[in-house]
Amino acid sequence: MRELLLSVRPILSSVMTNLGIKEEEWFDLLDSSTDSSFADIAMPCHSLSKKLKKSPMQIADEILEGVGEDLCDFCTLSSINGFLNFSANSKWLNECLQNHILDQRLGVSLDEQRTIVVDYSSPNVAKHMHVGHLRSTVIGDSLVRMLTYKGHNVVRENHIGDWGTPFGMLIEHLIDVNGNDTINNVDLAIFYRDAREKFDSNVDFADRSRERVVKMQSNDPDSIYYWQMLVDQSLVHFNEVYQMMGVLLNNNDIAGESKYESLLSEVVEKLEEAGLLHESQGAQVVFPEGWYNREGNPLPLIIRKADGGYNYATSDLACIIDRVQNVGATDFLYVVGAEQSQHFAMVFEVARKAGFMNKKITATHVPFGLVMGTDGKKLASRTGGAVHLKDLLMEAIERANSIIAEKNPSLSNDERNEIARMLGIGAIKYADLSTDRNNNYTFDWEKMLSFDGNTAPYLQYAHARICSIFSKANIDRKDVQRAIISVSDEREISLAKAILSFPEYLDKAIVSNSPHKLATQLHSLAQAFGTFYEFCPVISSETDIFESRLALCDLTARTLEQGLNLLGIEAPKKM
Ligand code: ARG
Repeated sequence: MRELLLSVRPILSSVMTNLGIKEEEWFDLLDSSTDSSFADIAMPCHSLSKKLKKSPMQIADEILEGVGEDLCDFCTLSSINGFLNFSANSKWLNECLQNHILDQRLGVSLDEQRTIVVDYSSPNVAKHMHVGHLRSTVIGDSLVRMLTYKGHNVVRENHIGDWGTPFGMLIEHLIDVNGNDTINNVDLAIFYRDAREKFDSNVDFADRSRERVVKMQSNDPDSIYYWQMLVDQSLVHFNEVYQMMGVLLNNNDIAGESKYESLLSEVVEKLEEAGLLHESQGAQVVFPEGWYNREGNPLPLIIRKADGGYNYATSDLACIIDRVQNVGATDFLYVVGAEQSQHFAMVFEVARKAGFMNKKITATHVPFGLVMGTDGKKLASRTGGAVHLKDLLMEAIERANSIIAEKNPSLSNDERNEIARMLGIGAIKYADLSTDRNNNYTFDWEKMLSFDGNTAPYLQYAHARICSIFSKANIDRKDVQRAIISVSDEREISLAKAILSFPEYLDKAIVSNSPHKLATQLHSLAQAFGTFYEFCPVISSETDIFESRLALCDLTARTLEQGLNLLGIEAPKKM
């Protein structure tokens, strides 16, 4: 839209001045219009009405008349219901496409570089990852990919829960069951459950556990030895899941609560210095401005509990100090479920008040809704417990495998397994990423694995289909990129507009931390391609049309592949 806007600007300028409308008034109006897209702008004349004492319809008509034929070279202009509509014509689109096809970045510009810490996934040690972590991991991974592509310095932060009170009982249980032996191959979820049961039923064990936390948090070597065993075992499980999911996270990104442990006393000192620390029922707390409980009393953010232990919020504050000082963070994104909104709002408020973050640094909680089962309830396993992520991923791949086997029996086993992996994992991720993250979404196998509709397989299939057009005709994609592109058919024009909109939608997705905005655009692109391919013959056309249409195919495939990649989804060449 920007490009079209800049082309329109000089011509519109004189007409507007004659009508008595200042540049900043109408240009902002065009720029901010939400009904606009890359090649179509809808300018609402309603807000000019009062000043000019004319109806929006009248204003739109007068502008239209003033412009006359001047825009015809690249744009058609019409006035409908007080809106002035600019629609780029094929000449303008052809020029854009010609630049676009030679651009490896498909028109995506680089932003001025910022250092963005993205906190995501962040599961808890000695517990299985659940679907909440699935959402955080999938959304976070996509945001990281998009921001990196825009040229930012992205710091991935897997803030695992590895330092809290449960470690007391876990370590004691570990000592009870096998002393110094390793705990390889132990199911940590069962281990956790057993420790919990003992903690709840055995007073002596509970006491030992409490003492153990204190020992561990004061870095007693014995306790740390067992603690490390639990952490290592958990990391094996997390990494297995990350690898299956094909996300970028690895061990270098682990920055759990324990990492900030040595900074916790500094947090207290700094809050004290800033005059923010208060004592409340033996605990040290801060009362962030604007937060009250139901009784109307100020709501505390607990920094240090009465027993001397530090809190979840304290690690988050320590992390902010560390990332600002040592990493040079300019922005923080926390991809964590909506239920932690209050926690983050309070932490940000305190961090600002205490001067841990200056005004230029942004901190944003990127919340998301729940994953629901097809029964309308929160997604649960058959036995009613939390769904294990690994099982979910494996089921997706298995299901995709049978679908592929049926659709394309000629594939070799290896080929089919590989495609099934891309499809199954892609389907789960896309189902998550294609809905507005603020909403709950329904986990529906049939729907997410369908080849129709707004699904990963639909987009992947469009991509694979184009790849097969090229391979069947034995044409090198690189050769096509030198073609003269000329769109004239309305289906070609729609496809061209969808291709050219990619950079704009990527920006929209980034600005609002909403991958679904990119997903939606990719889906429209695949649909536009479907219609184009149905009505505009490619292979059987005359040479120049053939080349131009092949170029559109190439651009579609490249955009789909790049777009899916930014969502963390692979695009097989064959399906
Ligand atoms: N481990 C936490 C949980 O599972 C999420 C941590 C989110 N990140 C943070 N910096 N607090 O709920």
